[in-house]
Amino acid sequence: PAEMVSRNNFSVWNILKKCIGMELSKIAMPVVFNEPLSFLQRISEYMEHTHLIHKACSLSDSVDRMQVVAAFAVSAVASQWERTGKPFNPLLGETYELIREDEGYRLISEQVSHHPPISAFHAESLKQEFAFHGSIYPKLKFWGKSIEAEPKGTMTLELLKHKEAYTWMNPMCCVHNVILGKLWIEQYGTVEILNHSTGDKCVLNFKSCGMFGKELHKVEGFIQDKSKKKLRVIYGKWTECMYSVDPKVYETHKKSDKKSGGESKKTKRENSCEEDDSDDVPEIQETVTVIPGSALLWRITPRPPHSAQMYNFTSFAMTLNELEPGTEKLLPPTDCRLRPDIRAMENGDIDRASSEKERLEEKQRAARKERSRDEEEWSTRWFHLGTNPHTEAEDWLYRGGYFDRNYSDCPNIY
Ligand SMILES: *[C@@H]1O[C@H](CO)[C@@H](O)[C@H](O)[C@H]1NC(C)=O
Ligand SMILES: *[C@@H]1O[C@H](CO)[C@@H](O)[C@H](O)[C@H]1NC(C)=O
Ligand SMILES: *[C@@H]1O[C@H](CO)[C@@H](O)[C@H](O)[C@H]1NC(C)=O
Ligand SMILES: *[C@@H]1O[C@H](CO)[C@@H](O)[C@H](O)[C@H]1NC(C)=O
Repeated sequence: PAEMVSRNNFSVWNILKKCIGMELSKIAMPVVFNEPLSFLQRISEYMEHTHLIHKACSLSDSVDRMQVVAAFAVSAVASQWERTGKPFNPLLGETYELIREDEGYRLISEQVSHHPPISAFHAESLKQEFAFHGSIYPKLKFWGKSIEAEPKGTMTLELLKHKEAYTWMNPMCCVHNVILGKLWIEQYGTVEILNHSTGDKCVLNFKSCGMFGKELHKVEGFIQDKSKKKLRVIYGKWTECMYSVDPKVYETHKKSDKKSGGESKKTKRENSCEEDDSDDVPEIQETVTVIPGSALLWRITPRPPHSAQMYNFTSFAMTLNELEPGTEKLLPPTDCRLRPDIRAMENGDIDRASSEKERLEEKQRAARKERSRDEEEWSTRWFHLGTNPHTEAEDWLYRGGYFDRNYSDCPNIY
């Protein structure tokens, strides 16, 4: 994308002071607070660490698989780190596809409802090893100083060879200091990953930052079997890395760490530069204290240079609007890459982005009015409301057929 336009000349307070407690999707914010991606594209960022799913497929031990799945669930929300730009609300009927032959998968997503906003996605491996799907109903709320995002909706990962299915819900997310001060993002809450074949589960606790910021970004949890016996402890930070260790080793370490005062030393280290202990340079620049005997499950890919000028995007996010010559003819007319306001922002033309955003929203309103006058129901194209076979709850499921590339009856939404 083109470099970001500074937000300094815009007062968030003037816009938001009238809206405390309101649902944020109903508040019109100037486009400078956006990032040039649709929420559908943001969802596709879950796939950045697909190599972990491939790894899980290849493991023969079920507990080993579960811990890699847990790392995948954490890695899927890692791209949120420092991403305070607001993605564009998808228009009803908008779609996004992503084919990554190098990573062995393809993904399709569709905005299936506007009020409430619901986005459905379905990713599958090109060799029929896994399917990963879900629907997300992001509920945003403004709380005076912060914005809270509740990502309602279930993620389902099916490892087809192992006939296993895992489901979970993403953690809560909060953007702090939206009015004044430094913006920062916190993810918190309990994520339970369930193995539906046996009832075994992995419980991950995304910690809120705590009093002195000591717990910031920390994730800790364990895998347990049906009888609640702990099989592994999982720990790390969603911004950095995740490790797994035997529960006995973990307990022993915790006890000895407390005795030797290791805990307080660690805290000091994290929070100050005073302790210039040149013998003690960490090999890798990370703030997770590694317990001897742990296995690394995942480490984040560093962001590219200039990421800060480009909405703090990862390399993966930077590619999402790419439109290679020839691709345009293949895509349905509803694909995000063809959406004019996002394209204008990607190109750095904020005035155009703003006027196009207004035009598209107006067009959407007019179409809705017309449908209600004709008593017509909107019909979704690629997903249908059905029952998730694993949770038995209502869920949006992929109908199939998207990659046959017959788009003759797609709606004109741009
Ligand atoms: C902010 O507004 C002033 C006055 O309109 C203008 O001179 C300045 O360039 C703007 N700054 C940014 C960062 O857009
Ligand atoms: C998950 O379910 C499978 C059954 O397909 C079972 O063999 C396995 O022990 C379970 N493992 C974990 C860790 O959830
Ligand atoms: C990017 O990260 C920096 C450093 O934390 C932060 O100050 C800035 O507001 C972030 N920018 C965006 C667009 O989120
Ligand atoms: C494409 O779909 C339309 C309507 O669904 C159908 O009438 C048409 O025959 C299809 N075209 C091809 C080439 O299959």
